[in-house]
Amino acid sequence: MVCLGNICRSPLAEGLLSKKVDQETVKVDSAGTASYHIGEAPDIRTIMSARKHGLNISNLVGRQFKVSDFDEFDRIYVMDHSNLQNVLALARTEDDKAKVDLILNELKAGSNQDVPDPYYGGDEGFEQVYRLLDAATENIANKLKNGKL
Ligand code: 4NP
Repeated sequence: MVCLGNICRSPLAEGLLSKKVDQETVKVDSAGTASYHIGEAPDIRTIMSARKHGLNISNLVGRQFKVSDFDEFDRIYVMDHSNLQNVLALARTEDDKAKVDLILNELKAGSNQDVPDPYYGGDEGFEQVYRLLDAATENIANKLKNGKL
């Protein structure tokens, strides 16, 4: 799960998907394309929004996306087109590129929609992000269970 800062959208996506899969067999992680928030906990507004829904993500620690993530992971979900561009710029091969997709394409195939960046907005933005990522991760988890991912 990749966003810009790894403090708002992608840690929430990581927390949501982690809860929905068998963690013995599926490795879920998140990263930011930028280095601004390395080592930091998620944004307090994201933590509170997740907590409201019974999900604790306060233990997650920000890190930056790195080229070796293409080797470590089978699927790389980005939150928006800017993340997509930044991650694809680091891809070494067509196989690397094929691992990357906008996460909302799992909600609506081919929609190519962004998860809006809630960083500069109000609480309703965080709630909207929660709803989108809860639904998208539900579909990802179902695909994984059915061997379709
Ligand atoms: P995220 O949100 O990419 O969902 O973690 C942001 C976090 C930090 C910044 C921008 C977006 N920032 O500019 O520091």
